Amino acid sequence: MSLPVVLISEEEIQQRVAALAERISNEYGDDDELVLVGVLKGSFIFLADLARKLTIPRTIEFIAVSSYGSGSKSTGAVRLVMDVRGNIEDKHVLIVEDIVDTGHTLKYLIGMLESHRPASVKTCALVRKAERAEVDVNVDYLGFDIGDEWVVGYGLDYAEQNRTLPYIGVVKPTDEFDAFIHAAALWPLLRWIQA
Ligand code: PRP
Repeated sequence: MSLPVVLISEEEIQQRVAALAERISNEYGDDDELVLVGVLKGSFIFLADLARKLTIPRTIEFIAVSSYGSGSKSTGAVRLVMDVRGNIEDKHVLIVEDIVDTGHTLKYLIGMLESHRPASVKTCALVRKAERAEVDVNVDYLGFDIGDEWVVGYGLDYAEQNRTLPYIGVVKPTDEFDAFIHAAALWPLLRWIQA
């Protein structure tokens, strides 16, 4: 993996998160409790910042899913690993995602959470790769549309690395690059065998 190159700065993220929080606070109001459902693991930083900037009553839930597939290739099938703990029946639910890529995860989550019979289900995502969409899924509150690049930071990872960067950066996780690194690590051993 290459070193991350800044795509969205810390300041831009903080401004956008504040704007989203203001909009969400205005649109839901004080009358009903809003349940923020963070999708593990990637949403944990976005959710923490967004939740603290809201000015309306809110509670936090987490949910975990796993998508079938290997490496960066997804088959589109999503499996529930951990459901919400609290009762969300008749409550307003806002799913909080770090990234919408193909859209399969968010589409699955909307259907799954609707089965709990909440008052409403809406969606919030920090970034979306619009050109990667494979299913039609609505993002009610969106931070940024980005291109088809591998991004890390602010919760997003590549092979569990770089989640805690304060900005969103682009990396190049090419197979060729990884193969080169692995081959380089083996060079001393190959030389020793040849000697
Ligand atoms: C990411 C992200 C979404 C999902 C989106 O999770 O957090 O949940 O992929 O992809 P999709 O739109 O193609 O369905 P990931 O599987 O990387 O797990 P993580 O959040 O634990 O990093």
